[in-house]
Amino acid sequence: MSRVYNFSAGPAALPLQVLEQIHSEIFDWQGIGMSVMEASHRGKQFVELAERAESNLRDLLAVPDDYSVIFPQGGATMQMAMAPLNLAAPGDTADYIVTGSWGKKAAGEAAKFCTSNVAADSSDKNFTYIADESTWSRSDNAAYLHYTPNETIAGVEFHFVPSGDAPLVADMSSNILSRPIDVSRFGVIYAGAQKNIGPAGITVVIIKDELLDRARANTPHLMTWKSYAESDSMTNTPPTFAWYVADIVFQWLIEQGGVEAMAVVNQRKAMKLYAAIDGSDFYSNPVAKDCRSWMNVPFILADAALDATFLEQSNAAGLTNLKGHRSVGGMRASIYNAVSEEAVDALITFMAEFERTEA
Ligand SMILES: Cc1ncc(COP(=O)(O)O)c(C=O)c1O
Repeated sequence: MSRVYNFSAGPAALPLQVLEQIHSEIFDWQGIGMSVMEASHRGKQFVELAERAESNLRDLLAVPDDYSVIFPQGGATMQMAMAPLNLAAPGDTADYIVTGSWGKKAAGEAAKFCTSNVAADSSDKNFTYIADESTWSRSDNAAYLHYTPNETIAGVEFHFVPSGDAPLVADMSSNILSRPIDVSRFGVIYAGAQKNIGPAGITVVIIKDELLDRARANTPHLMTWKSYAESDSMTNTPPTFAWYVADIVFQWLIEQGGVEAMAVVNQRKAMKLYAAIDGSDFYSNPVAKDCRSWMNVPFILADAALDATFLEQSNAAGLTNLKGHRSVGGMRASIYNAVSEEAVDALITFMAEFERTEA
């Protein structure tokens, strides 16, 4: 078996141990003589899986009892529409902090359903900073404030939680489970699975129960958070295989020591990669130091003409998916929970060698 170091932004690396378990169970899951993909979501084994996944996720993130945890389909993009539909009445205003492409997309989606007030927007510097909170132009009585704690493309992460009275809605797709969070500060947290949770196809949404009754009346049933909260996320047939993998990932995270332990490793991985970039004249990262992401590290080569060679050689060395997003250029290393410190060390060694021989 030959496995590469996968720095993909998503779908992203999964822990080998998780893949091995899936491999061992694929023909006969739980002794029922079939794979989990072929089993009813109403069956005893699947219901147990669903309950365990929720309970483990609650433990991992210390989710308070007055929050619901649901697992819809549709990814984070669906939640960009569900947030206004579930929280804002027509005519209401919702505030958006736009620190990258995903926040911009969320604000655009909300504008279809309510007044979407962009209270801060760092596109003027190609999303390389977060404006000081005191400068945000927030509206009075906003239905909620939406932000993206980690912008996957620009590599910009909030290392603080915004303040204020409006319920906070956070798109944590690319940094959920990477470190402890205080869930009680949030109204809604949502995340597509394909970075730190499991395969694409399932979404995690954590909602303060008192917000479940705000959906506008004409919201499709499948787009109300309440319908999932009331049906244990079995409003319709759920993405069973993705849920199954997420359950194994949660167990793996608990074995690693939970999000507290992940945070220590994640910070160390990120800091050593940034140190290598900052310590070189050949590589650079354009993001302000106070908001650099622990999960997605973009870096630019001093000579863009060498980009193709860098990608070719890194691929040949077993370091894959390093091509940066076209809006930023250069490279991006996504170093989620399942990307080991060994992988980051291998990348740093490769980068130094590339600089020595090609720069
Ligand atoms: C921060 C963030 N939000 C939203 C999305 C879109 O997620 P999905 O494809 O699950 O809808 C992504 C995808 O990469 C993302 O990184």
